[in-house]
Amino acid sequence: MRVGVLLSGRGSNLQALLDAGAASWNVALAISNEPDAPGLARAGTAGVPTRTVPHRDFPDRPAFEEALDAALRAAEIELVVLAGFMRVLGPDFVARWRDRSVNIHPSLLPAFRGLDTHRRALEAGVRWHGCTVHFVRAELDAGPIVLQAAVPVRPDDTEESLAARVLAREHHVLPMAVGWIAEGRVRVEDERVVAVDPGDSSVNPSQ
Ligand code: GRF
Repeated sequence: MRVGVLLSGRGSNLQALLDAGAASWNVALAISNEPDAPGLARAGTAGVPTRTVPHRDFPDRPAFEEALDAALRAAEIELVVLAGFMRVLGPDFVARWRDRSVNIHPSLLPAFRGLDTHRRALEAGVRWHGCTVHFVRAELDAGPIVLQAAVPVRPDDTEESLAARVLAREHHVLPMAVGWIAEGRVRVEDERVVAVDPGDSSVNPSQ
């Protein structure tokens, strides 16, 4: 499965995907809306084609998203991964890539949608925090959950120490979720992700 990664910054989750590699999927394109995103350099080093699609160059969101979509289709991308992509995607783009796009979010959704999740988790006094890989829907940081990982919140945690602990889990679950999708091991049913039973002949007629 050809995976296209959308990012805006550091790109450590892209790096995790590049490092994981797998027989069933590969990162075939990395796109950033920010020309200086360090993530683009990571892709370049790994020999993955890159594109910059700066949102500021477009008159409105539909035009920007049309360009994103065109770049993804030109590269024959089959699964889009939002990995630190800091633009909200509109309903047309989301509908076009429905169940073919996932996002990694640094909280245990549905808690702490949006930004500053680690600070807000500390302020709320939660004992567990974590990260979520979910299929993308028009609502921000919502959609069927593929995989989550939890970490304990320690009494002496700072925003930075908690973020680092969560990020290590992000790097683990994101490639895992992409692998499940690429291998057809999960599907969306009634807006929930369910495991595909390999023995179910309606799913896999060869068995
Ligand atoms: C990650 O914490 C991710 O969950 C969030 O943005 C951050 C991106 O980090 N959506 P990186 O660019 O992958 O290093």
